[in-house]
Amino acid sequence: MDNAKDKGKIRLYDKTFKPFIAYDEIEKAIDRVAASVNADFKDSEDVPVLLCVLNGSILFTAELLKRLDFACEVMSIKLTSYSGTQSTGKVREVMGMSGSVEGKRVIIVEDIVDTGTTIVDLKRILQDRGASEIRVCTLLLKPDIYKKDIPLDYVGIRIPNDFIVGFGLDYDEIGRNSKDIYVLDTNMKYYILFGPPGAGKGTQASAMVEKYNLCHISTGDLLRSEIVRGTELGLQAKALIDAGELVPDEVVQGMIENQFRRVTDVSGFLLDGFPRTIAQAQALDKILDKAKEEVTAVISLMIPDEMIRERIKHRAKIEGRADDAKDETISNRIKTYHEKTEPLIDYYKASGKYHEIDGTGKIDEVRERINTLMDKF
Ligand code: IMP
Ligand code: MG
Repeated sequence: MDNAKDKGKIRLYDKTFKPFIAYDEIEKAIDRVAASVNADFKDSEDVPVLLCVLNGSILFTAELLKRLDFACEVMSIKLTSYSGTQSTGKVREVMGMSGSVEGKRVIIVEDIVDTGTTIVDLKRILQDRGASEIRVCTLLLKPDIYKKDIPLDYVGIRIPNDFIVGFGLDYDEIGRNSKDIYVLDTNMKYYILFGPPGAGKGTQASAMVEKYNLCHISTGDLLRSEIVRGTELGLQAKALIDAGELVPDEVVQGMIENQFRRVTDVSGFLLDGFPRTIAQAQALDKILDKAKEEVTAVISLMIPDEMIRERIKHRAKIEGRADDAKDETISNRIKTYHEKTEPLIDYYKASGKYHEIDGTGKIDEVRERINTLMDKF
């Protein structure tokens, strides 16, 4: 089974990262870079400045510095251009330079050059402050993205256009303390279990969670736990659920986003009972997009209306679920499903993510159908 821990993966907030560059490889790259820098500066009569670009370059600067054998000053500056995993394209000087570079040769020490926006801005800042020469030394480079014409004098390792963390690099300010470098593991699966009330979603979900190492997110369960605990959210939700209505989108979305962030060590998530409306589906897309993820598949359990009614009544007896007991409530739930939830079928068909499963028959039979489909993802 695909367990996050077994493969040396790490989890930072809502994302999983897998091992990418081991520390000893990083050290070798720094050895090479240091050798080139030393060769260029060994006979210099001036005292060049090593400019550490905070915070990402802290570790690289320290390791590089240990290997340099000419007299140099160390200064720092702090700029930001990243928010989350996306470059904002704007660079701000957050902390001014910690010394004067006037008339001095400067070696910019960067953890990584991505779009190059930082380097361009930095070079302008250094020129404005009278640096006599500016060189760029970066541990990592994403050559597929870097399109600026400033030459990069010293490059440690070239990497593909993926988001990485570790050895000084961060994801929302965490992950810098890892010795090794990790790359974003985009292999996280996001399944939606879809179907009318009583289609057997809850029953099938338990088996799927077990077999495919998923975190089961049932908005119904999340809400019911709020109700049981008598929270304010729970009281609001109870009134609506008792009337067979849907709970406001923001409430449900917030709960789900929290779960994505909280849960670790899974191969994916199984959403059960969400989204129920187009608006919720769009909100989910937005949540996932923000995390550079997407819905993997919608697994739709289909049963006819008469069977919905039968199964809900049966379940009400066994579980004593008040929301399932009344005929009127059941009718309203079926109506709400047809009106508001069914349009989702077309929404997900349009993106080719919709997969229908015959939900009639024995539990085992349905499970077999589901597994056959799931094995494809
Ligand atoms: P640029 O201005 O687009 O070249 O971005 C440079 C800065 O963005 C680096 O100094 C990093 O702080 C940050 N950055 C770029 N790529 C990554 C990455 O994959 N992981 C973490 N931070 C990154
Ligand atoms: Mg940086």
